Amino acid sequence: MKLKGQVAIVTGSSRGIGRAVAEAFAREGARVVINSRDQKTAALAAAELGEEAIGIGADLATEAGAEALIGETIRRCGRVDILVNNAGMPMVRPTLELTLEEWQRVLDLNLTGPFLCAQKAAASMLGGEGGVILNMASLTAFAPFPRRLAYAASKAALVMMTRIMAVEWAPKVRVNAIAPGFIFTDFTKELVAEGRLDVEALKRRTPQGRLGSPDEVARAAVFLASDDAGFITGETLVIDGGWLAYGFT
Ligand SMILES: NC(=O)c1ccc[n+]([C@@H]2O[C@H](COP(=O)([O-])OP(=O)(O)OC[C@H]3O[C@@H](n4cnc5c(N)ncnc54)[C@H](OP(=O)(O)O)[C@@H]3O)[C@@H](O)[C@H]2O)c1
Repeated sequence: MKLKGQVAIVTGSSRGIGRAVAEAFAREGARVVINSRDQKTAALAAAELGEEAIGIGADLATEAGAEALIGETIRRCGRVDILVNNAGMPMVRPTLELTLEEWQRVLDLNLTGPFLCAQKAAASMLGGEGGVILNMASLTAFAPFPRRLAYAASKAALVMMTRIMAVEWAPKVRVNAIAPGFIFTDFTKELVAEGRLDVEALKRRTPQGRLGSPDEVARAAVFLASDDAGFITGETLVIDGGWLAYGFT
């Protein structure tokens, strides 16, 4: 087991990619903290994961939420070894119609939340045995998808945040990011239902000919969180079935 005895927080892990990462970490022997905005949802998902798992409800678009999640984990488990900043929200809107409130909402959850969680977790990791931080970025950090300004800006900033934290907190804390392409979750289902994502066109555009699964992202997260990736820091791993490598539409 690659993560035996490690205390791992996965933010936004009641469903989707976060849930798959939490399950994969638990299979590898980690004690996992499940997070959702809602305490009951987090507790239920944790109970489904097993006796060791803990559910903590906290809204990570707020400083109080980040404080509560990291603080309660340290109080209950004694430390945090792995933090996965996964919670995030999409926003597809023509730039001319994007309101300040929408821009702020996306940045609060997708960028400020990971900054605050990482800062609080790293303070504890640096004072202890060290640790690992993973940030869930996105393919949109590297490819200029129209109508995704706030979302893509938050994810591109997350890639640079990953590098700066990796440099500042080395060698005790490794910080990496994962940039998924199109992965089949509620997040993508919602965009399809709203007519904002054409799955068939996407499959044609992707060399692997399909969308990815949350489990395929989770397996990469296990690798990056484990000692197998001991010399990897400041890196962003793109998991997109070759979409970015293809390079043109
Ligand atoms: N799916 C994709 O194709 C794709 C591609 C690239 C990147 N990503 C990134 O991967 C991450 C996960 O995406 P996903 O598709 O798995 O999303 P998802 O299915 O919509 O799940 C989002 C998770 O985040 C939680 N969450 C939402 N707002 C929160 C808040 N304010 N505080 C705490 N938790 C919150 C949700 O829990 P509750 O609703 O219970 O609070 C849920 O567990 C995101 O950062 C996303 O940007 C996804």
